[in-house]
Order: sequence, then structure tokens, then C-alpha cells
Amino acid sequence: MSTTAEQNAKRKAGNYAADLVEDGMVVGLGTGSTVFYAMERLSERISDGLTVQGVPTSYQAAMRARHLGIPVTTLDDYPVLDMAIDGADQVDGALRLIKGRGAALFREKCVAAAADEIFIVVDPGKVTSILDAPVPVEVVPFALAPVRMAIQEIGGDPVLREGIKKDGPVVTDNGNFILDCTFGPIEVPERLEALLSVMIGILECGLFCEFTQKTTVLIGDAGGCRVVRAP
Ligand code: 5RP
Repeated sequence: MSTTAEQNAKRKAGNYAADLVEDGMVVGLGTGSTVFYAMERLSERISDGLTVQGVPTSYQAAMRARHLGIPVTTLDDYPVLDMAIDGADQVDGALRLIKGRGAALFREKCVAAAADEIFIVVDPGKVTSILDAPVPVEVVPFALAPVRMAIQEIGGDPVLREGIKKDGPVVTDNGNFILDCTFGPIEVPERLEALLSVMIGILECGLFCEFTQKTTVLIGDAGGCRVVRAP
């Protein structure tokens, strides 16, 4: 898919998600380029009279929301959200996700857990039969070496994410590092997520397997948007 076609697909998915937002809702705002289109559309709808508040999942999302005139709030004020709109790096047929290219996976998971419904906006290139992309893992810097070792012991190949236009490692919005961990094809993503979740020193991992029942995936393409729900 060409870059233009990919952007069009992302826009279709983002617009579709934003049009699902109802007056008065509080919405989790994910991070990344596809959610940006949803936020642009939400901004237009606010200009037309929609009342909505957003809980951003990153500094990027918060800055964009403010720039676009979307009122922002927090999980402190709204521990339960009507819905969340977020992107993904990979989606499989069971609606399990790999997220975290933008290093926002921890707050994205907090928002996903708090939301009644989750709408994942993607272009068709994100859809796969088996999850096999590197899994981003957010690690507390103090525990970097033992976590690396523990991930290698379960068959992963962890690579410390380096900054772009910044020397040294990426530092997340929570002050931590990211290890991008290649496992090859992930046969049982739930098992891997459970293994990573209990490792001391890991804040969160980018596997999202526990939200499938409240997840709808919106796959944009040239013609419109395909809506996929859990069976
Ligand atoms: C950020 C994420 C993003 O949602 C994911 O990387 C998708 O981004 P994009 O819509 O730009 O392709 O998980 O941590």
C-alpha cells in the first residue's frame, strides 16, 4: 500500500471512529498517526456543537487535543470512560493487539482498561493472521539488565529502543525505557502477555489480549471502513 493510500485508509478509520462519539461522552484518546485523524474529525464535530472530553494517553495526544480544541480531562476525574479510540501496530483475527510503537503503551493500556468500549483504528497493513511484530516492553531503568536477561530466558530478543534526534535510549512519558522484544510468531499471545506482566521491573508490555470482548477494530481502506467485532 502506498503512503497516500495508507494515509487515506487511516483517515477513513479515524473519521469512522470519531463519528461514533455521542454527545457528552468522555473518550480515551490514543497516540499515533491514525488516532490523529479521529481527533481532527472530533475537532470538526466540536465546532458543530458536540460536547466531548478526552483523556489523552501521552504528551503527544494531550498536545494535539489542546491544539485541536478538544477538552482534556484525566482518569482521576473519570475512572470509567465511555469509549477509547486508539491505534495498533498489529491486529490478529481474535482482535488481540500489539501496541507501543509510540512508546505510549502503559497509558494506552490504562485507558483501554477504563473504557466501556475500545475502537481500534488501523489501515489494512496492520492486520495479520498471527502476531509476530516485536513486542514493546516498558522497563523501569533500574531493572534494565535483569529484565533483558529474563526476556532472553523465555526466548525473546530484546533491543533497547534508541531515540531519534536524541542520543541514547527513548525515555517514555513515565520516565522509563522501551525494549522491543522479538519472539517470532507468537502462538499463544495471552501466555506471553502473562509471562511479561509478572516480570519484576516491567511496567507493562504492548500485548493487549484481555480486551477483545469490548474491542471493535475499524479497518480503513480506499472504499470506506470495515468493522470487525469479536465473535
Ligand atoms: C502508540 C501506539 C500506536 O497506537 C500504534 O503504534 C499505531 O500508530 P499509528 O496509528 O501511527 O500507525 O501503540 O504507542
